[in-house]
Amino acid sequence: MGTRPFEGQAAIVTGAASGIGLAIAKRLAAGGAAVTIVDQNGEGAEAAAAELRKAGARACAVQADVSKSAEVRDAVARATGEFGAPAILVNNAGISRGGRVQDIAEEDWDLVLAVNLRGCYLFCKNVVPAMVEARYGRIVNIASGTAVRVGPGSGPYAASKAGIIALTKSVAGEVARMRITANVVAPGLTDTAMTRGQFGDEERLQQEASAGRIANPMRVVIQPEDIASAVAFLALPESRYITGQTLHVNAGSFMP
Ligand code: NAI
Repeated sequence: MGTRPFEGQAAIVTGAASGIGLAIAKRLAAGGAAVTIVDQNGEGAEAAAAELRKAGARACAVQADVSKSAEVRDAVARATGEFGAPAILVNNAGISRGGRVQDIAEEDWDLVLAVNLRGCYLFCKNVVPAMVEARYGRIVNIASGTAVRVGPGSGPYAASKAGIIALTKSVAGEVARMRITANVVAPGLTDTAMTRGQFGDEERLQQEASAGRIANPMRVVIQPEDIASAVAFLALPESRYITGQTLHVNAGSFMP
């Protein structure tokens, strides 16, 4: 593997204004990809793209809500206009809402499914045709360990993430003849705004990693860069025969 394996390739990363998505965007850019950062946080997306450009990469930002059909179509058109047809698509945008099934509001259920699962479907729908034409593509969808190891109170989130795994398998089969792969990376407890919001500060996160419900035997809080490494691996040209798989990056938390 060269140091810039994605040279000449265009990539789209959703939810890349912060956290895991930003780390993925940086990693692909460092590998030579021209990256379009898609996020509903337009300012954050602009700031992220500026940071990538400052580091010498080609990058642009598009403000879009991944659950909205027209916005996704526009985002893909703008990315393609800027850098050409995407060779790499990373569906990372996601949100979390919890609660027992009798308590969870219907609006929250709909929102989580719309952003996490519909968003993934819409980007695949709009990007796959160009990949088919190019006879090349790498799709990496971000699920969660929660898709497989489901604790109480995680209904919509777990269902959306399990849905991503199932959708990815379906897509992988559909595009296999076209030299396109589709895989899932399932992060364990990772230090981002999402988990800081759920668990509190760094210390609480560390406690959760050591002794909480989703503890891992390494007793570590995973960093966004560790997830980005797994995504970059699956996005490599030479990962061509890995498809339909789920790669858990969870410090051994559980072993499906
Ligand atoms: P984060 O909250 O730091 O970043 C999520 C990004 O997605 C934000 O920039 C946000 O503006 C964007 N976003 C949210 N809704 C959107 C929408 N409708 N359209 C466009 N962009 C939208 O969260 P984090 O932790 O970086 O999460 C990234 C992905 O990793 C999510 O899919 C999450 O479910 C998944 N994940 C995270 C874990 C963790 O421990 N942090 C564990 C397992 C999975």
